[in-house]
Amino acid sequence: MNRLPNRAELMDRKEPDGSLPRKIGRWYRTHRRRLPWRETKDPYKIWVSEVMLQQTTVNAVIPYYVRWLELFPDIQALARAPLRRVLKAWEGLGYYQRARNLHQAARTICRKHGGSIPAEFEEFIALPGVGPYIAAAVLSLAFDKPYPVLDANVRRVGMRLYGFQGKANARADAVLLARIRGIFPVENGADFNQALMELGALICRPKNPGCLLCPVQSFCRAYQSGEQEVIPAPKSRSFQQIETVVGIISDQGKYLIQQRPAQGLLAGLWEFPGGKREKGETLREALRREIKEELGVEVRRERLLLKLRHAYTRFQVELFVFECELDRSPLPRSPNRRWVGLRALKRYPFPSGSAQIVRFLEDRDSEKQKRVSVGP
Ligand code: ADE
Repeated sequence: MNRLPNRAELMDRKEPDGSLPRKIGRWYRTHRRRLPWRETKDPYKIWVSEVMLQQTTVNAVIPYYVRWLELFPDIQALARAPLRRVLKAWEGLGYYQRARNLHQAARTICRKHGGSIPAEFEEFIALPGVGPYIAAAVLSLAFDKPYPVLDANVRRVGMRLYGFQGKANARADAVLLARIRGIFPVENGADFNQALMELGALICRPKNPGCLLCPVQSFCRAYQSGEQEVIPAPKSRSFQQIETVVGIISDQGKYLIQQRPAQGLLAGLWEFPGGKREKGETLREALRREIKEELGVEVRRERLLLKLRHAYTRFQVELFVFECELDRSPLPRSPNRRWVGLRALKRYPFPSGSAQIVRFLEDRDSEKQKRVSVGP
C-alpha cells in the first residue's frame, strides 16, 4: 500500500486536479497556526506530537508536548526513563498504551538502531505502537517522504471533496488514500499533509464548515450538492454507562492506593480501591463488597465525599467517592498496594478520575492548613 513512488513516476503523473494542492498549499502558508511541532524537523519531536494528537485535540496536547520535551528531550532520555515517570507525564491524556508503546519503541531504537529513528517505512512501522498513520505522518513530516496521511480531519476533507457518501470505513479510506496519492505534490509533501489537516481543523469543520472561505470550494462535490454537513455520515457511537464506588482510606496522613494489573485497561496506573456497582446493589453495599474483595477487610463507616464524572474510550463513568473507616483488622500486605502521603501522591500516574480525587484531597488539605494558620 505504501510503496514509495519514485521521482520519475511522480513527475510523469497526470494530475487532473493539479491546482488543488497548489491552492491548499497557498492557503496553508498564510493561515496555518504556529504549532510547536511545526517548527521542527526532528523526527522524535514530530513522532511525540503525532502520538499525542491521536485521539486528543491540539489545544489539549500543547502543554503536555512542551512538558514532555522538557522531561524527555530526545529518544535517549525517553529510553532511560522509568515507566512510572513516563506514565506520569502522560497522565490526563488518556489511552495510556500510547505512552507505553512510545517508551518501548524508544528502548528498541536505542538497542537496535543506534538511537536513530529509522527513516524507512518497513523498519519504522515494525516498532511498537507505530501503525500506518503514525508511520506516514512521521516519515512525511520529518523526512519529506511522499506518504499521504489520513487522520479524521483529512478524511473529512477528502470525503467532502470527492463526494463520498455514507460513513467512513476501511474501504472508503483505501479509495481516498489512492485519490490523495494521485494528487500528492512532488515537492513539499510535508506541507501538503499539514495543509490538509489544517484545512480540516480550521475550515472543513465537522459542523458549520466555513465553505465560503475555503480555498478549494470550487473542487468540492459536497459543497456543490449542498451536502457538506452530512458527509461523512455520523458514526453510531454508544457509550456504556458505569457507576463506580471508590474508597478513600487514610491512616496518619497517608492514603491507600493500589496499582492496576500490568495488562488490560489502564494497565500499570495507580488508583484508590473500589470498583463497579453491580445491578441491585446500593452504592454503600457496592463499596463494602469491593473493599472486602480487594482488601479483605470490612468497612465500618463511610461518608460520601464527592461525585465525579468522566469519560474514556467507550465508557462514561460516574464515580462516587467515599471516605472510609475500616474495621480494626490490619491490612494484609501486598506488593501492589502502598500508603502514600499527599505530596508523594503527585509522583504516581493515575487515570483522570483518580487524579481529580487527588486534587480534591490536596485542596481539602490546603484549606485545613489555612484554617489552622488563621486560627479560631
Ligand atoms: N493532528 C494530527 N497531526 C497534526 C498536526 N501535525 N498538526 C495539527 N493537528 C494534527
